[in-house]
Amino acid sequence: MPSSNPVYRIAPSILSADFARLGDEVQAVIAAGADWIHFDVMDNHYVPNLTFGPMICQALKPHAKQADGSAVPIDVHLMVQPVDALAAAFADAGADIISFHPDASGHVHRSIQAIKSKGCKAGLVFNPAAPMDVLDWVIDDIDLILIMSVNPGFGGQSFIDSALRKIEDARKRIDACGKEIRLEVDGGIKLENIARVAAAGADTFVAGSAIFGKPDYKGVIDAMRVALAK
Ligand code: DX5
Ligand code: ZN
Repeated sequence: MPSSNPVYRIAPSILSADFARLGDEVQAVIAAGADWIHFDVMDNHYVPNLTFGPMICQALKPHAKQADGSAVPIDVHLMVQPVDALAAAFADAGADIISFHPDASGHVHRSIQAIKSKGCKAGLVFNPAAPMDVLDWVIDDIDLILIMSVNPGFGGQSFIDSALRKIEDARKRIDACGKEIRLEVDGGIKLENIARVAAAGADTFVAGSAIFGKPDYKGVIDAMRVALAK
């Protein structure tokens, strides 16, 4: 279980948004209550899919705002190899949080340092079969751990249950290090399973197909918050 009453964050992934209307979609999902905007960056090399680059992040940055003008964090998930040059480009394009897969970087500690030197928060992403022992050496340097509950590359997949054990392990590591680190889960998050994922220790939830494509974004996000509050 996460530390006492964590602040939960819902991070809709624009991977499932209408790519012909991304600006409107970002505004709509923020108006519906989204806390972060999750940016699934894919290079058709590290994963078998190709999405968008820093220019789209730059174009959407002005839309990532609450009604009162306050910025909504852009949470960039790099499914790319190599990492460093694109991480820097996304930082320049307005990313607030940049996460990468350690197996996609030749020097994980240096990649984390490069992201933080740009003033961004840094995160590490772990695939379903990836070990987390790299955290033994860098947990004090990161701001976010992202657990993949599907194999990276596509939205609309089913949640992989073994991710629950991984979330529990990551939660133990975070609580032991005593640092403020967000524990985000990505893939197959639905209204039906979000409470179970939170009970395992997650506090931040990526949801793509559960939100985008649905008639009422606010209805879905509100229902997720009710499920989390139980
Ligand atoms: C996989 C992507 C997806 C996406 C969420 O690489 O990262 O997990 O964000 O997709 P849904 O919520 O539709 O499973
Ligand atoms: Zn993602």
